[in-house]
Amino acid sequence: MQVESSATPFAELDADLHITTLAVGAELPATFAAAAGAGDARGAFGKLALLHPERPERLLVAGLGDAGELDPEKLRVLGALIAKQAGIYEAKRIAWELGEPGTITQAEAAAAIVEGLIMGAYRFERFREADPDDPPPARIEHMAIAVTEGVDELAPVLRRARVAAESANRARDLQNLPANVVTPTYLADRALELASGFEAVSAEVLGREQIAAKGLGGLVAVSSGTAEEPKLICLRYAGRGSGEVLGLVGKAVTFDSGGISIKPSGGMHEMKMDMSGGAAVLEAIAAIAELELELDIVAVVPATENMPSGSSMRPGDVITQLNGKTVEVNNTDAEGRLILADALTWCVREQGADRVIDLATLTGAVLVALGSTYAALVSNNDDLAGQVEAAATHSGELAWRMPLHPEYKKLTKGTVADLTNSASKRQAGTLYAASFLEEFVDDTPWAHLDIAGTAWDVGREYVGKGPTGFGVRLLVALAAELAG
Ligand code: BES
Ligand code: MN
Ligand code: ZN
Repeated sequence: MQVESSATPFAELDADLHITTLAVGAELPATFAAAAGAGDARGAFGKLALLHPERPERLLVAGLGDAGELDPEKLRVLGALIAKQAGIYEAKRIAWELGEPGTITQAEAAAAIVEGLIMGAYRFERFREADPDDPPPARIEHMAIAVTEGVDELAPVLRRARVAAESANRARDLQNLPANVVTPTYLADRALELASGFEAVSAEVLGREQIAAKGLGGLVAVSSGTAEEPKLICLRYAGRGSGEVLGLVGKAVTFDSGGISIKPSGGMHEMKMDMSGGAAVLEAIAAIAELELELDIVAVVPATENMPSGSSMRPGDVITQLNGKTVEVNNTDAEGRLILADALTWCVREQGADRVIDLATLTGAVLVALGSTYAALVSNNDDLAGQVEAAATHSGELAWRMPLHPEYKKLTKGTVADLTNSASKRQAGTLYAASFLEEFVDDTPWAHLDIAGTAWDVGREYVGKGPTGFGVRLLVALAAELAG
């Protein structure tokens, strides 16, 4: 989709669907107020009224609700509602009059609209024909945002919003694709494709033998039960930053059956999404490279299946992680922390990250604590946590900080090894897992995002049911902030 800001008078813009917004209590401009249907436009949030003024021929008035309560999230929702209408009207070109966004800036409003429109238009139809009983999908090719001033300032803002949202949609494709398509090799190929597509990106992929030779014992153990070759995917983005290297780590278990500690069969198919953290990291790098943000990043994505077989790790096995710590594997379904442990060590020690953020669908417990509304944020560093929180709020990909405490750490102590991957007490599962990960970052500033709840089925209008691409827009917002 092409997105541009335009100083052309709104009604003159060439489009097949024109959108203007109206807050409760506000009045339509006289030229529109005279049109048939104008009485329906009263501004309630999300309410749409169709008008046929003289110019343009077809106008949707979208209600903003109370102008004093407007925020970017509401405009993302509105963007998605308009995407739906664009499908119904088979509109390919949209013109949107920004007007007075009230409590937020013009730039914030425009970015939010673009994000909502692009994410709201997302469909996954790779394996079937469009269902004639579904509302027709939006096929928007062009969107113009009409403003009376600040056209040039708006252009880069629109570009960033578009690139971030399109990248999030690509992450959603990776999440949607089944585990017999999205294998560790598939993700590695995506990384190599990024490296060949952008001058500033390079990739290195380690296969099963190298992973073992380098001593990534956690990744070796988890992948021991699957015929699919595991991959350690490393991406480097050289964006001419000021010297500090940001590390990103994303869990990519392309299918989590639980292994020998096998999961109940009921919802097991959903565990194709256990690579959501890795997908978010890969596509965030793609977005950041496309936007040429000025910072340096190293990304590490440990990718494997977690399967039961005669060669699988067993409950009770003791393994040695890359940093030398030993772990008693009391539950083979707590596999994410084992591969992340090695990836964090790799990111910090081998790749030279000065601070590191990991994204992982790590615990079911985070769904109990925060539902699908917030990701859990756990960090050993207040500055970094603050930056992540700010990016989260900014992007609408919310994160709520939760604590580290010596008593959680106590739960991670093993009986025959340094650590255990699963506590006997079912308490504070998310914080236990985070405390475990902390053992592998060598005191480097680190922030962990548990996205098991937010990666899927949020049910917000613009991300809907299914995959959300959670993390892509947050990471792009953070990178833009760090790049300055
Ligand atoms: N991939 C799961 C976590 C998960 C749960 C992701 C729900 C998405 C939705 C993870 O590997 C897992 O199985 N965690 C266990 C850990 C337990 C065995 C200590 C869990 O949360 O139950
Ligand atoms: Mn698991
Ligand atoms: Zn998992």
